[in-house]
Amino acid sequence: MKKNIKNLEEMRKFAISIANKTKIGKKATIFCLYGDLGSGKTTFTKGFVSAFGVKQNVTSPTFVIEKIYKLPKLLGKFKHIIHIDAYRLNGGEEMIELGWEEIIENPENIILIEWPEKIANILPKNIKKIEFTFVDENQRVVKY
Ligand SMILES: Nc1ncnc2c1ncn2[C@@H]1O[C@H](COP(=O)(O)OP(=O)(O)O)[C@@H](O)[C@H]1O
Ligand SMILES: [Mg+2]
Repeated sequence: MKKNIKNLEEMRKFAISIANKTKIGKKATIFCLYGDLGSGKTTFTKGFVSAFGVKQNVTSPTFVIEKIYKLPKLLGKFKHIIHIDAYRLNGGEEMIELGWEEIIENPENIILIEWPEKIANILPKNIKKIEFTFVDENQRVVKY
């Protein structure tokens, strides 16, 4: 599907609608967020994480590679959202060192990855893709 997003508020609503549709599976749920710098991947993640009742401020994990948000109990079956920015990586080896194999096995994890193409060699087959495109200062297109 393809959607025109006219402003920040629409991006927030889009992220929340995707979050609300996310169901627990047999393994971790993985969203690969494709798109250039400034296309809205981190902004989408902020909205997505807020939908799970996390009050913490979501900031880009560019320099730390990975940030883990503990989800409040009782709101659903998921326990953690793991936000990864693979921009600085060349292949998935560093992710393996960060415990990737265990992270993707746990169905209670949701993993959101910016620049997934950088770690294409470790992505499992069953991933969900969202593609972000810059239109102008306030507008974006999302394909999902
Ligand atoms: N409709 C929109 N959706 C997402 N971001 C928008 C939108 N309009 C303006 N922006 C701005 O564009 C920038 C997007 O940056 P960011 O989400 O960090 O992109 P990325 O993580 O893809 O590099 C932010 O400064 C945000 O405020
Ligand atoms: Mg980003």
